[in-house]
Amino acid sequence: MKYMGSKRSMLQNGLGKLLLSESKNYDRFVDLFAGAAFVACYVAENTDRSVLAVDLQSYSTALAEAVIGRTAQLDSIVLIEKWIDSVVELRNADPLWKKAIEHSQQIKNTKKWVLQARELCEMDSKIGSLWNAYGGHYFSPTQALTFDYLLANLPKNKNERTLCLAACISAASECVAAPGHTAQPFQPTKSARPFILDAWQRDAITYCKKNLVYLASRHAQTRGRVITGDALQVVEKLSSSDLVFIDPPYSSVQYSRFYHVLETMARGNKRISVNGVGRYPSIQDRPQSQFSNMGTAKEALKSLIDKLAEKKCTVIFTFPSGEASNGLSGEYIKQVAGEFFNVEDYTTINGRFSTLGGNNEGRDARQASSELILLMRPNKRGLSGSSHGIPHIWGCLFSV
Ligand SMILES: C[S@@+](CC[C@H](N)C(=O)[O-])C[C@H]1O[C@@H](n2cnc3c(N)ncnc32)[C@H](O)[C@@H]1O
Repeated sequence: MKYMGSKRSMLQNGLGKLLLSESKNYDRFVDLFAGAAFVACYVAENTDRSVLAVDLQSYSTALAEAVIGRTAQLDSIVLIEKWIDSVVELRNADPLWKKAIEHSQQIKNTKKWVLQARELCEMDSKIGSLWNAYGGHYFSPTQALTFDYLLANLPKNKNERTLCLAACISAASECVAAPGHTAQPFQPTKSARPFILDAWQRDAITYCKKNLVYLASRHAQTRGRVITGDALQVVEKLSSSDLVFIDPPYSSVQYSRFYHVLETMARGNKRISVNGVGRYPSIQDRPQSQFSNMGTAKEALKSLIDKLAEKKCTVIFTFPSGEASNGLSGEYIKQVAGEFFNVEDYTTINGRFSTLGGNNEGRDARQASSELILLMRPNKRGLSGSSHGIPHIWGCLFSV
Protein backbone atom coordinates (compact mmCIF):
# COMPACT_ATOMS: atom_id res chain seq x y z
CA MET A 1 0.00 0.00 0.00
CA LYS A 2 1.01 3.63 -0.48
CA TYR A 3 1.72 5.34 2.84
CA MET A 4 2.81 8.86 3.50
CA GLY A 5 6.26 8.93 5.00
CA SER A 6 6.75 5.23 4.27
CA LYS A 7 10.30 3.96 4.55
CA ARG A 8 9.76 1.16 2.03
CA SER A 9 12.19 2.54 -0.56
CA MET A 10 14.76 3.53 2.09
CA LEU A 11 14.94 -0.10 3.19
CA GLN A 12 16.75 -0.84 -0.10
CA ASN A 13 18.82 2.30 0.22
CA GLY A 14 20.96 1.82 3.32
CA LEU A 15 18.33 1.69 6.05
CA GLY A 16 17.75 -2.08 5.65
CA LYS A 17 21.46 -2.83 5.93
CA LEU A 18 21.78 -0.78 9.12
CA LEU A 19 18.71 -2.42 10.69
CA LEU A 20 20.05 -5.91 9.97
CA SER A 21 23.52 -5.27 11.32
CA GLU A 22 22.39 -3.38 14.46
CA SER A 23 19.49 -5.64 15.41
CA LYS A 24 21.96 -8.53 15.97
CA ASN A 25 23.18 -6.74 19.11
CA TYR A 26 19.78 -6.43 20.81
CA ASP A 27 17.08 -8.78 22.07
CA ARG A 28 14.19 -6.92 20.53
CA PHE A 29 13.44 -4.43 17.77
CA VAL A 30 10.86 -1.76 18.58
CA ASP A 31 9.23 0.38 15.88
CA LEU A 32 7.54 3.18 17.86
CA PHE A 33 5.80 4.84 14.85
CA ALA A 34 5.03 1.82 12.69
CA GLY A 35 2.80 3.42 9.99
CA ALA A 36 2.27 0.91 7.17
CA ALA A 37 4.64 -1.43 9.06
CA PHE A 38 7.23 -1.75 6.28
CA VAL A 39 10.11 -1.46 8.74
CA ALA A 40 8.65 -3.66 11.48
CA CYS A 41 7.86 -6.42 8.94
CA TYR A 42 11.27 -6.14 7.29
CA VAL A 43 13.07 -6.76 10.58
CA ALA A 44 10.66 -9.52 11.65
CA GLU A 45 11.03 -11.37 8.34
CA ASN A 46 14.78 -10.95 7.97
CA THR A 47 16.09 -11.43 11.51
CA ASP A 48 15.35 -13.74 14.42
CA ARG A 49 14.71 -10.82 16.77
CA SER A 50 11.23 -10.35 18.15
CA VAL A 51 9.58 -7.13 16.98
CA LEU A 52 7.25 -4.79 18.84
CA ALA A 53 5.30 -2.48 16.50
CA VAL A 54 3.55 0.56 17.98
CA ASP A 55 1.27 3.16 16.43
CA LEU A 56 -1.55 5.41 17.57
CA GLN A 57 -3.77 3.97 14.85
CA SER A 58 -5.38 0.55 14.72
CA TYR A 59 -5.04 0.02 10.96
CA SER A 60 -1.28 0.36 11.34
CA THR A 61 -1.01 -2.27 14.05
CA ALA A 62 -3.43 -4.49 12.12
CA LEU A 63 -1.08 -4.39 9.11
CA ALA A 64 1.93 -5.10 11.31
CA GLU A 65 0.31 -7.92 13.26
CA ALA A 66 -0.70 -9.76 10.07
CA VAL A 67 3.00 -10.46 9.45
CA ILE A 68 4.91 -10.10 12.72
CA GLY A 69 2.31 -11.97 14.80
CA ARG A 70 2.88 -15.29 12.97
CA THR A 71 5.85 -17.60 12.48
CA ALA A 72 4.41 -19.72 9.67
CA GLN A 73 2.59 -19.18 6.40
CA LEU A 74 -1.19 -19.52 6.31
CA ASP A 75 -3.02 -21.33 3.55
CA SER A 76 -4.64 -18.60 1.48
CA ILE A 77 -6.52 -21.09 -0.73
CA VAL A 78 -8.34 -22.46 2.31
CA LEU A 79 -9.08 -18.93 3.51
CA ILE A 80 -10.43 -17.89 0.13
CA GLU A 81 -12.88 -20.80 0.25
CA LYS A 82 -13.76 -20.44 3.91
CA TRP A 83 -14.02 -16.66 4.12
CA ILE A 84 -14.24 -14.95 0.73
CA ASP A 85 -16.45 -17.49 -1.07
CA SER A 86 -18.99 -17.57 1.75
CA VAL A 87 -18.97 -13.75 1.97
CA VAL A 88 -19.73 -13.54 -1.75
CA GLU A 89 -22.75 -15.81 -1.25
CA LEU A 90 -24.08 -13.74 1.65
CA ARG A 91 -23.49 -10.46 -0.15
CA ASN A 92 -25.16 -11.62 -3.36
CA ALA A 93 -28.32 -12.45 -1.43
CA ASP A 94 -28.61 -8.91 -0.03
CA PRO A 95 -31.23 -6.74 -1.88
CA LEU A 96 -28.75 -3.82 -1.69
CA TRP A 97 -26.31 -5.87 -3.78
CA LYS A 98 -28.85 -6.14 -6.58
CA LYS A 99 -29.29 -2.35 -6.52
CA ALA A 100 -25.52 -1.79 -6.38
CA ILE A 101 -24.99 -4.03 -9.40
CA GLU A 102 -27.74 -2.25 -11.34
CA HIS A 103 -26.09 1.05 -10.50
CA SER A 104 -22.66 -0.20 -11.63
CA GLN A 105 -24.08 -1.02 -15.05
CA GLN A 106 -25.63 2.38 -15.70
CA ILE A 107 -22.70 4.67 -16.40
CA LYS A 108 -23.69 7.31 -18.91
CA ASN A 109 -22.76 10.55 -17.26
CA THR A 110 -20.11 10.20 -14.55
CA LYS A 111 -21.28 13.11 -12.42
CA LYS A 112 -24.87 11.84 -12.38
CA TRP A 113 -23.61 8.32 -11.73
CA VAL A 114 -21.64 9.45 -8.68
CA LEU A 115 -24.60 11.40 -7.31
CA GLN A 116 -26.87 8.38 -7.82
CA ALA A 117 -24.34 6.24 -5.94
CA ARG A 118 -24.48 8.68 -3.01
CA GLU A 119 -28.25 8.54 -3.00
CA LEU A 120 -28.25 4.74 -3.11
CA CYS A 121 -25.81 4.50 -0.21
CA GLU A 122 -28.14 6.58 1.95
CA MET A 123 -30.36 3.49 2.15
CA ASP A 124 -29.91 1.86 5.51
CA SER A 125 -27.48 -1.07 5.70
CA LYS A 126 -27.01 -3.03 8.91
CA ILE A 127 -23.94 -4.93 7.71
CA GLY A 128 -21.22 -2.39 8.45
CA SER A 129 -20.33 1.27 8.41
CA LEU A 130 -18.68 1.64 5.00
CA TRP A 131 -21.84 1.60 2.88
CA ASN A 132 -23.46 4.57 4.64
CA ALA A 133 -20.31 6.48 5.58
CA TYR A 134 -18.19 6.16 2.44
CA GLY A 135 -20.29 4.58 -0.35
CA GLY A 136 -20.67 7.01 -3.26
CA HIS A 137 -17.70 9.00 -1.98
CA TYR A 138 -14.54 6.93 -1.45
CA PHE A 139 -16.04 3.67 -2.74
CA SER A 140 -18.59 2.62 -5.33
CA PRO A 141 -21.73 1.01 -3.85
CA THR A 142 -20.51 -2.47 -4.91
CA GLN A 143 -17.12 -1.92 -3.25
CA ALA A 144 -18.58 -0.46 -0.05
CA LEU A 145 -21.05 -3.34 0.39
CA THR A 146 -18.38 -5.93 -0.38
CA PHE A 147 -15.94 -4.52 2.18
CA ASP A 148 -18.74 -4.36 4.77
CA TYR A 149 -19.54 -8.06 4.21
CA LEU A 150 -15.86 -9.06 4.27
CA LEU A 151 -15.31 -7.21 7.56
CA ALA A 152 -18.51 -8.47 9.17
CA ASN A 153 -17.54 -12.08 8.46
CA LEU A 154 -13.85 -12.21 9.35
CA PRO A 155 -12.73 -15.68 10.51
CA LYS A 156 -12.85 -16.34 14.27
CA ASN A 157 -9.35 -17.81 14.57
CA LYS A 158 -7.03 -14.99 15.73
CA ASN A 159 -4.22 -15.38 13.18
CA GLU A 160 -6.66 -15.84 10.32
CA ARG A 161 -8.76 -12.90 11.43
CA THR A 162 -5.72 -10.60 11.67
CA LEU A 163 -4.52 -11.66 8.23
CA CYS A 164 -7.94 -11.20 6.59
CA LEU A 165 -8.42 -7.79 8.22
CA ALA A 166 -5.03 -6.63 6.90
CA ALA A 167 -5.92 -7.97 3.43
CA CYS A 168 -9.15 -5.91 3.50
CA ILE A 169 -7.34 -2.75 4.63
CA SER A 170 -4.68 -3.13 1.95
CA ALA A 171 -7.31 -3.86 -0.73
CA ALA A 172 -9.36 -0.82 0.31
CA SER A 173 -6.31 1.42 0.10
CA GLU A 174 -5.85 0.25 -3.50
CA CYS A 175 -9.50 0.67 -4.52
CA VAL A 176 -10.25 3.99 -2.84
CA ALA A 177 -11.15 6.94 -5.08
CA ALA A 178 -8.77 9.38 -3.43
CA PRO A 179 -5.25 10.58 -4.14
CA GLY A 180 -3.13 8.03 -2.25
CA HIS A 181 -4.75 8.69 1.12
CA THR A 182 -8.26 9.26 2.38
CA ALA A 183 -8.30 12.92 3.42
CA GLN A 184 -10.85 13.66 0.69
CA PRO A 185 -12.43 11.58 -2.05
CA PHE A 186 -12.15 12.65 -5.68
CA GLN A 187 -15.15 14.78 -6.63
CA PRO A 188 -16.85 14.27 -10.01
CA THR A 189 -15.20 17.31 -11.61
CA LYS A 190 -14.10 17.11 -15.24
CA SER A 191 -10.45 16.46 -14.34
CA ALA A 192 -11.09 13.95 -11.53
CA ARG A 193 -13.83 11.88 -13.20
CA PRO A 194 -11.41 9.45 -14.91
CA PHE A 195 -9.84 8.69 -11.51
CA ILE A 196 -13.24 7.91 -9.99
CA LEU A 197 -14.15 5.68 -12.92
CA ASP A 198 -10.84 3.85 -12.65
CA ALA A 199 -11.01 3.38 -8.86
CA TRP A 200 -14.66 2.39 -8.66
CA GLN A 201 -14.27 -0.31 -11.25
CA ARG A 202 -11.67 -2.18 -9.21
CA ASP A 203 -13.20 -5.38 -7.95
CA ALA A 204 -12.90 -5.42 -4.14
CA ILE A 205 -12.86 -9.23 -4.05
CA THR A 206 -10.01 -9.50 -6.58
CA TYR A 207 -7.93 -6.96 -4.64
CA CYS A 208 -8.69 -8.65 -1.36
CA LYS A 209 -7.65 -12.08 -2.69
CA LYS A 210 -4.44 -10.64 -4.12
CA ASN A 211 -3.48 -9.09 -0.77
CA LEU A 212 -4.53 -12.19 1.14
CA VAL A 213 -2.29 -14.44 -0.94
CA TYR A 214 0.63 -12.05 -0.57
CA LEU A 215 0.27 -11.49 3.19
CA ALA A 216 -0.44 -15.16 3.98
CA SER A 217 2.93 -16.13 2.53
CA ARG A 218 4.79 -13.73 4.84
CA HIS A 219 5.64 -14.24 8.50
CA ALA A 220 8.12 -13.39 11.24
CA GLN A 221 11.05 -15.62 12.20
CA THR A 222 10.23 -14.99 15.86
CA ARG A 223 6.74 -14.05 16.94
CA GLY A 224 6.36 -10.34 17.69
CA ARG A 225 3.53 -8.21 18.98
CA VAL A 226 1.82 -4.87 18.51
CA ILE A 227 0.51 -2.08 20.71
CA THR A 228 -2.04 0.45 19.51
CA GLY A 229 -1.10 3.42 21.64
CA ASP A 230 1.11 6.40 22.27
CA ALA A 231 4.87 5.99 21.79
CA LEU A 232 5.38 8.35 24.75
CA GLN A 233 3.74 5.79 27.03
CA VAL A 234 5.15 2.65 25.47
CA VAL A 235 8.71 3.96 25.84
CA GLU A 236 8.33 3.58 29.64
CA LYS A 237 8.36 -0.19 29.14
CA LEU A 238 11.59 -0.34 27.09
CA SER A 239 15.10 -1.22 28.22
CA SER A 240 18.73 -1.21 27.08
CA SER A 241 18.19 -4.55 25.33
CA ASP A 242 15.84 -2.86 22.84
CA LEU A 243 16.90 -1.37 19.51
CA VAL A 244 14.35 1.39 18.89
CA PHE A 245 13.40 2.73 15.48
CA ILE A 246 11.85 6.20 15.31
CA ASP A 247 10.17 7.61 12.22
CA PRO A 248 7.80 10.21 13.67
CA PRO A 249 5.31 12.42 11.78
CA TYR A 250 6.81 15.46 10.08
CA SER A 251 3.60 17.22 9.23
CA SER A 252 1.37 19.43 11.34
CA VAL A 253 -1.64 17.64 9.85
CA GLN A 254 -2.81 14.62 11.83
CA TYR A 255 -2.38 11.20 10.19
CA SER A 256 -5.87 10.37 11.40
CA ARG A 257 -7.22 12.99 8.99
CA PHE A 258 -5.57 11.21 6.07
CA TYR A 259 -6.33 7.62 6.97
CA HIS A 260 -9.70 7.68 8.75
CA VAL A 261 -11.29 5.28 6.24
CA LEU A 262 -8.70 2.60 7.04
CA GLU A 263 -9.08 3.33 10.75
CA THR A 264 -12.86 2.84 10.53
CA MET A 265 -12.25 -0.53 8.86
CA ALA A 266 -9.72 -1.63 11.48
CA ARG A 267 -11.95 -0.65 14.40
CA GLY A 268 -14.87 -2.58 12.97
CA ASN A 269 -17.58 -0.24 14.25
CA LYS A 270 -20.98 -1.12 12.85
CA ARG A 271 -22.07 2.51 12.68
CA ILE A 272 -20.28 5.82 12.56
CA SER A 273 -21.45 9.32 11.79
CA VAL A 274 -19.35 11.35 9.40
CA ASN A 275 -19.05 14.98 8.40
CA GLY A 276 -17.96 17.21 5.55
CA VAL A 277 -16.58 16.50 2.10
CA GLY A 278 -13.89 14.28 3.61
CA ARG A 279 -16.57 12.22 5.44
CA TYR A 280 -14.60 12.48 8.69
CA PRO A 281 -15.71 10.73 11.87
CA SER A 282 -15.81 13.07 14.89
CA ILE A 283 -12.47 14.29 16.21
CA GLN A 284 -12.85 12.10 19.33
CA ASP A 285 -12.72 9.08 17.04
CA ARG A 286 -9.57 10.24 15.27
CA PRO A 287 -6.36 9.73 17.27
CA GLN A 288 -4.53 13.01 17.86
CA SER A 289 -0.75 13.04 18.03
CA GLN A 290 1.33 15.61 19.89
CA PHE A 291 3.93 15.06 17.17
CA SER A 292 1.54 16.38 14.51
CA ASN A 293 0.84 19.63 16.29
CA MET A 294 3.11 22.63 15.79
CA GLY A 295 2.52 23.77 19.38
CA THR A 296 3.48 20.46 21.04
CA ALA A 297 5.77 18.56 18.63
CA LYS A 298 9.09 19.89 19.99
CA GLU A 299 8.16 19.20 23.60
CA ALA A 300 6.87 15.71 22.69
CA LEU A 301 10.09 14.90 20.86
CA LYS A 302 12.23 16.12 23.75
CA SER A 303 10.22 14.09 26.20
CA LEU A 304 10.55 10.97 23.99
CA ILE A 305 14.32 11.40 23.71
CA ASP A 306 14.69 12.01 27.46
CA LYS A 307 12.78 8.79 28.20
CA LEU A 308 14.80 6.79 25.68
CA ALA A 309 17.98 8.05 27.37
CA GLU A 310 16.61 7.12 30.78
CA LYS A 311 15.91 3.60 29.46
CA LYS A 312 19.39 3.46 27.87
CA CYS A 313 18.01 2.47 24.49
CA THR A 314 19.96 2.56 21.25
CA VAL A 315 17.98 4.40 18.62
CA ILE A 316 17.81 4.58 14.84
CA PHE A 317 16.08 7.80 13.85
CA THR A 318 14.93 8.90 10.40
CA PHE A 319 13.77 12.43 9.60
CA PRO A 320 13.79 14.91 6.69
CA SER A 321 16.90 17.06 6.91
CA GLY A 322 15.09 20.42 6.51
CA GLU A 323 12.46 21.96 8.76
CA ALA A 324 9.11 20.18 8.60
CA SER A 325 5.71 21.82 9.06
CA ASN A 326 5.33 20.46 12.61
CA GLY A 327 8.39 22.54 13.54
CA LEU A 328 10.77 19.57 13.90
CA SER A 329 13.99 19.33 11.90
CA GLY A 330 16.97 17.02 11.65
CA GLU A 331 19.09 19.72 13.32
CA TYR A 332 16.69 20.03 16.27
CA ILE A 333 16.67 16.27 16.75
CA LYS A 334 20.47 16.13 16.73
CA GLN A 335 20.65 19.00 19.19
CA VAL A 336 18.19 17.46 21.66
CA ALA A 337 19.60 13.94 21.36
CA GLY A 338 23.23 15.15 21.54
CA GLU A 339 22.84 15.70 25.28
CA PHE A 340 22.41 12.00 26.09
CA PHE A 341 23.45 10.14 22.95
CA ASN A 342 26.45 9.87 20.67
CA VAL A 343 24.68 10.79 17.45
CA GLU A 344 26.17 9.39 14.26
CA ASP A 345 24.97 10.75 10.90
CA TYR A 346 24.77 7.28 9.40
CA THR A 347 23.70 8.47 5.94
CA THR A 348 21.48 10.93 4.08
CA ILE A 349 19.15 9.65 1.38
CA ASN A 350 18.03 11.97 -1.40
CA GLY A 351 14.72 11.33 -3.10
CA ARG A 352 11.16 12.42 -3.52
CA PHE A 353 9.19 11.98 -0.33
CA SER A 354 5.52 12.45 0.36
CA THR A 355 4.86 15.56 2.39
CA LEU A 356 1.41 14.80 3.80
CA GLY A 357 0.63 18.41 2.86
CA GLY A 358 3.41 19.03 5.22
CA ASN A 359 6.73 20.56 4.34
CA ASN A 360 7.12 24.29 4.11
CA GLU A 361 7.97 24.36 0.42
CA GLY A 362 4.63 23.91 -1.32
CA ARG A 363 1.65 21.66 -1.62
CA ASP A 364 2.88 19.01 -4.03
CA ALA A 365 2.18 15.53 -2.73
CA ARG A 366 5.82 14.54 -3.22
CA GLN A 367 8.79 16.86 -2.88
CA ALA A 368 12.49 16.54 -3.55
CA SER A 369 14.00 16.20 -0.13
CA SER A 370 16.66 14.39 1.80
CA GLU A 371 16.15 12.11 4.77
CA LEU A 372 18.67 11.65 7.53
CA ILE A 373 19.36 8.33 9.18
CA LEU A 374 20.81 8.90 12.63
CA LEU A 375 22.28 6.18 14.81
CA MET A 376 22.08 7.22 18.45
CA ARG A 377 23.92 5.30 21.18
CA PRO A 378 23.54 6.35 24.81
CA ASN A 379 26.63 8.34 25.89
CA LYS A 380 28.04 8.35 29.41
CA ARG A 381 25.45 10.87 30.57
CA GLY A 382 22.66 8.87 28.99
CA LEU A 383 23.98 5.76 30.66
CA SER A 384 24.05 7.41 34.08
CA GLY A 385 20.38 8.41 33.69
CA SER A 386 18.88 11.62 32.28
CA SER A 387 18.77 14.73 34.46
CA HIS A 388 15.07 14.00 35.17
CA GLY A 389 16.02 10.98 37.19
CA ILE A 390 18.83 12.47 39.29
CA PRO A 391 18.97 15.05 42.09
CA HIS A 392 19.12 18.66 40.98
CA ILE A 393 22.67 19.23 42.25
CA TRP A 394 23.98 16.38 40.09
CA GLY A 395 21.97 17.70 37.16
CA CYS A 396 23.82 21.03 37.61
CA LEU A 397 27.22 19.36 37.87
CA PHE A 398 26.57 17.31 34.76
CA SER A 399 25.60 20.34 32.75
CA VAL A 400 28.87 22.25 33.35
C1 LIG B 1 6.09 8.81 9.19
S1 LIG B 1 4.83 7.68 9.66
C2 LIG B 1 5.70 6.15 9.86
C3 LIG B 1 5.91 5.44 8.56
C4 LIG B 1 6.48 4.05 8.72
N1 LIG B 1 7.84 4.06 9.20
C5 LIG B 1 6.41 3.28 7.38
O1 LIG B 1 7.46 2.96 6.79
O2 LIG B 1 5.30 3.02 6.93
C6 LIG B 1 4.47 8.19 11.31
C7 LIG B 1 3.47 7.31 12.05
O3 LIG B 1 3.46 7.73 13.42
C8 LIG B 1 2.18 7.50 13.96
N2 LIG B 1 2.09 8.29 15.22
C9 LIG B 1 1.92 9.62 15.36
N3 LIG B 1 1.99 9.96 16.66
C10 LIG B 1 2.22 8.84 17.36
C11 LIG B 1 2.40 8.56 18.74
N4 LIG B 1 2.35 9.53 19.67
N5 LIG B 1 2.62 7.29 19.11
C12 LIG B 1 2.66 6.29 18.18
N6 LIG B 1 2.50 6.51 16.86
C13 LIG B 1 2.29 7.76 16.44
C14 LIG B 1 1.24 7.93 12.84
O4 LIG B 1 -0.03 7.32 13.01
C15 LIG B 1 2.01 7.42 11.60
O5 LIG B 1 1.54 6.15 11.23
